[in-house]
Amino acid sequence: VMAIATPAQAQDYPAKPITIIVPFTAGGPTDKVARDFAEAFRKQLGNVSVVIDNSAGAGSSIGVAKAARAAPDGYTLLLTHIGMSTIPSLYRKLSFNVQDDFEYLGIINDVPMTLIARPTLEANNYSELATWMASQKNGVNLGNAGLGSASHLCGLMFQDATNTQMVTIPYGGTAPAIADLLGGQIDLLCDQTTNTTAQIAGKKVKAYAVTTPERLEGEVYKDVPTLAESGLKDFNVTIWHGLYAPKGTPQAVLTKVNDALKAALQDPEFIQRQKDLGAVVASDNRVNPAEHKAFVAAEIDKWGTVIKAAGQYAD
Ligand code: MLT
Repeated sequence: VMAIATPAQAQDYPAKPITIIVPFTAGGPTDKVARDFAEAFRKQLGNVSVVIDNSAGAGSSIGVAKAARAAPDGYTLLLTHIGMSTIPSLYRKLSFNVQDDFEYLGIINDVPMTLIARPTLEANNYSELATWMASQKNGVNLGNAGLGSASHLCGLMFQDATNTQMVTIPYGGTAPAIADLLGGQIDLLCDQTTNTTAQIAGKKVKAYAVTTPERLEGEVYKDVPTLAESGLKDFNVTIWHGLYAPKGTPQAVLTKVNDALKAALQDPEFIQRQKDLGAVVASDNRVNPAEHKAFVAAEIDKWGTVIKAAGQYAD
């Protein structure tokens, strides 16, 4: 008789390496959060090995689908972001339901975004950029990480707020998008500070604004205005990241995982690394599964309105 695998025994958990699926390419903002988080997370679980599985594509829905199908034993987790609240409105034929097919662990952090351009773009501030955009008859080339990504959502909001239609070029993540921006293949990109702070500090790109209601702290951002103060009233996009497990993962294992997540969010090294990248580690009740799930439900409604107004569907 075949031995039927029983769900992992919580007291033995983790008894083998844990895989965290990241639904974007290596080297990008989601991957950076995942690798920083994994270092702090594994310390809380006896230094268990954590393997990052970058399964990119279709604005994160490829990797999210893979996580939905994974064995619900606590050894495959998903680290993704605001995309959990945008893909339900963009993809009408998803093989999973972001609310029913996942166990929610805690929210990890909140990350501001920046509007950056290729270094050769002649505009030197936001108002000159607005003039330049209006003069581009063949359209402006805007990069993103696919429909459903944070960079896509920010680009959608930016085009809506500036009443422009841009040519959007999708990538598997914003690491390859930034490479093309540096090479001049695309003009603009809205990307998270986890990925752009080094580029801005190194003056490799032009930084026109940040997407948060208030300016960001730190030397790098002291002269970078917000889009809101630049004329795009109430513009506000901040990207949260959370941890998820396939539906059916045993509760005792989920409790162990979320206790380790909460302890990791108290790790001074993790907090500092995130702060250096402009990110803010979560410290409110969204670190609890129920509040995380309720927060995402509200985000699905909020971004669903924006996406439906744009009438931009992926399938
Ligand atoms: C996005 O949503 O734009 C992603 O964060 C990009 C990435 O992580 O590569």
